[in-house]
Amino acid sequence: MTAAPGDRPDHEPVELLAGLATTRTVRRYTDEAIPDDDLSSIVWHASRAPSGSNRQPFRFLVLRDGPRAAAAKAVLGESFRRGWQAKRLADGYDAAVVADDRSPKARSAAAMQHFVDHLERVPVVVLVCLERYRDANAYEGASVYPAAQNLLLAARALGYGGALTMWHLAVEAELRELLEIPDHVALSACITLGRPAGRHGPVRRRPIAELVFDDGWDRPAAWAVDPDGTRHSTWRRSSR
Ligand SMILES: Cc1cc2nc3c(=O)[nH]c(=O)nc-3n(C[C@H](O)[C@H](O)[C@H](O)COP(=O)(O)O)c2cc1C
Repeated sequence: MTAAPGDRPDHEPVELLAGLATTRTVRRYTDEAIPDDDLSSIVWHASRAPSGSNRQPFRFLVLRDGPRAAAAKAVLGESFRRGWQAKRLADGYDAAVVADDRSPKARSAAAMQHFVDHLERVPVVVLVCLERYRDANAYEGASVYPAAQNLLLAARALGYGGALTMWHLAVEAELRELLEIPDHVALSACITLGRPAGRHGPVRRRPIAELVFDDGWDRPAAWAVDPDGTRHSTWRRSSR
């Protein structure tokens, strides 16, 4: 059951730190289904994640090709298209495409458009849920998002890619009804999974010096340095 990526002929094993440094959101997939064994391994590794008091409140509602899955993917597809349309307008993606259609933002817009246009064909959609055992609170996600990230990393280790999204929230009521999800269960994330189509660029983040402080807020951590060749995102630290 444990991942043995080296046993699979179609991709190279990924060393843990290399996986952490290079796993990024994949929004274009082939139509290839994810076999039961691989999907089992992905959710098993996801479930190894930590949670408060080891209560393991995370649940994975997996949508593949059953009749309800098809209906849920259709509901999600509409929501994703509306969500992207709103984000495209609000976050200046159209202007970025006009300015330079090879820029990271323009490429991201193209990937996003493809993603939402093909949502119904994504091989696997996982609703990562939280089965509440007490009243909702601001920190409850801390016991489910580590599992979501484990799931993405396990998928990567087996040669798949994924996207953690929140565009399911706009259709939460429809999903609850369709999939009979009880009220005490939160729909914490919606993760799409499949075999990546094509290549994707490097992970880009802000310079590590902007993200790490030492011995007090905003005090520089001279020891925290980006490895040579690290690519940075264009987001800049903003003042509040
Ligand atoms: C809490 C959270 C919400 C996100 N929501 C969405 C989403 O609704 N749609 C989407 O396409 N990607 C979504 N993402 C993926 C982010 O856009 C992505 O992680 C980020 O831009 C960094 O890109 P990278 O993973 O390719 O490096 C989300 C990620 C997180 C962690």
